[in-house]
Amino acid sequence: MNTAFWIHHFQTNASVHDQITFDDQPAPLPDSVRIPLAHSLAIFQLGESGTGSRLRRYAREVAPLENFRGYQRAIDLFVCEEQAHSRLLSRMVLHLGGSLLEKQWTNSVFRRLRFLVNLEFAIQVLLTAELIAEVYYGSLYLRVKDASIHTACRQILRDEMKHLEFQRQFLAERLATFTPVGRWLWTCQFRLIHALTSRVVAWDHRHCLRAIGLTTTSFVQRCQESLARFQDRLETQVRECGATAVPGHSAATAQPQSHT
Ligand SMILES: [Fe+2]
Ligand SMILES: [Fe+2]
Repeated sequence: MNTAFWIHHFQTNASVHDQITFDDQPAPLPDSVRIPLAHSLAIFQLGESGTGSRLRRYAREVAPLENFRGYQRAIDLFVCEEQAHSRLLSRMVLHLGGSLLEKQWTNSVFRRLRFLVNLEFAIQVLLTAELIAEVYYGSLYLRVKDASIHTACRQILRDEMKHLEFQRQFLAERLATFTPVGRWLWTCQFRLIHALTSRVVAWDHRHCLRAIGLTTTSFVQRCQESLARFQDRLETQVRECGATAVPGHSAATAQPQSHT
């Protein structure tokens, strides 16, 4: 894994979030959009606010491996970037006149799930959240007519797309050590967890999605497309790491990218 690239990327990206400025004026959005959007963003804010302590502890397990030298430092910087997202999301919620949350049930479930098994599973749960976040922030970026929210979503979206690449590189190297059947089983459970999670998130954020003109069905569909793109790239990368193909997988499953 090219950890030097990621350390450099996270370091050079570190200052951009706090430089984003917000309009002094209240958001020029109708209450029918502003209120559910603020609540939805407050849920995402909570999700990004973790300290990453257990993720860091798990990362120590792979630290002695030659191909993961520097991974622990990269994870530290990655967690700092997620915390920068949390601060940015707080500012977005306040800009919209909303209130920050201290606890929320889907966030609690995510946190518990993430640390049930090992580093690979922790990264997988994180990745599932980031695949859904890519669709969520992409939709807000295109559909919310507020300059401050638009700018902040664009930055978070850019970062999350890089995070997907970061997790993909990690998983590709780990999955390349699995047997083809082991990888097939991993892929099945990943798809299942993603399918369940995207439906729960769509339901939880249904008022916000409706306010920006998206149905929960179309949100889930976009999440599935995002997953298909990710899996094709992951499988290609796993093969580049020297593994043989997963049974039944085809690059033709890739879907065109769309957030509209
Ligand atoms: Fe994030
Ligand atoms: Fe992320």
